[in-house]
Amino acid sequence: MEFKKVAVLGAGTMGLGIAQVMAQSGYDVVLYEIDKAIADKAVVKIGKLAARNIEKGKAPEGSDKIILSRIKTTANLQDVADCDLVIEAIIENMEIKKKVYQQLDVTCKPETILASNSSSLSLTEIAAATARPQQVVGMHFFNPAQVMQLVEVIPALQTSEEVVQAIMELCVKTGKKPIRVKEGPGFVVNRILIPGMNEAAFILQEGLATVEDIDTAMKLGANWPMGPFALCDLVGADVTLAICDTLYNETGDPKYRASSVLKNQVRAGYLGKKTGRGFYNYNA
Ligand code: 3HC
Repeated sequence: MEFKKVAVLGAGTMGLGIAQVMAQSGYDVVLYEIDKAIADKAVVKIGKLAARNIEKGKAPEGSDKIILSRIKTTANLQDVADCDLVIEAIIENMEIKKKVYQQLDVTCKPETILASNSSSLSLTEIAAATARPQQVVGMHFFNPAQVMQLVEVIPALQTSEEVVQAIMELCVKTGKKPIRVKEGPGFVVNRILIPGMNEAAFILQEGLATVEDIDTAMKLGANWPMGPFALCDLVGADVTLAICDTLYNETGDPKYRASSVLKNQVRAGYLGKKTGRGFYNYNA
């Protein structure tokens, strides 16, 4: 199985990062978004990040232009038809995902592998929505995808071993460290990390310490690179809450119930960096 052309579906934070990783590693990338202007904006950002790598001496002169030349943007799903691999990083909504996979199934060539960056939804259910369930697999990156080394590779119940191995090898080729994880809500990282962030919100709710002090506690007391609230702002309160809800709904275990503080952040639209305000204010 050889990958040359890769489609990335969704030009949000994760899609942008994944597209950059793939283009940097020499793959031709089709970046799909419903609104092409959003994909074009993402490519401008990729250009800036790639240029910064040159300034820092981490990438050779001219590499930004080479990376950009490998990325094409589109709002037409037909343009991903000849891709060898599609990495889907769209909204975490099962019904929407299923519709997109059904469209991909009829659009893409028969050998195309469909990988999902879903952070907690069932790959088995996504795979079952297609006529090629053996070619559907989880490929879970971490934010910021350009920096974080891990990729969780999650076979659906139907995924062929050949596909799992091909994706594991691809991860290594792009400089990532893949780990194989059986399907389960939150996989490994989010199963541990998200309840930790939710617990921080409960600590805030109980008035035990401030946002800043809880972040300082985890940075200086546990060596987290950033505190749980700063991390929630990076990941997005909506994404964090959605994962919390999946953990809770899939297991029925009350230990995963979301804190009111987290729910209210989402209700208020204080989602984090992407909206300019979360637990911290980014517009100041
Ligand atoms: N995009 C691209 N590159 C970025 C970036 C971004 N958004 N943010 C930081 N970087 C790069 C910087 O350019 C810098 O690169 P350099 O080493 O080449 O100079 C490098 O990352 C380090 O950045 P900084 O020096 O500015 O800051 P830090 O040393 O504090 O690192 C961080 C920033 C890498 C984000 C670090 O704070 C960190 O690791 N935080 C934790 C992130 C984390 O836990 N992610 C997982 C979230 S869970 C998830 O994604 C799963 C999902 O399903 C919810």
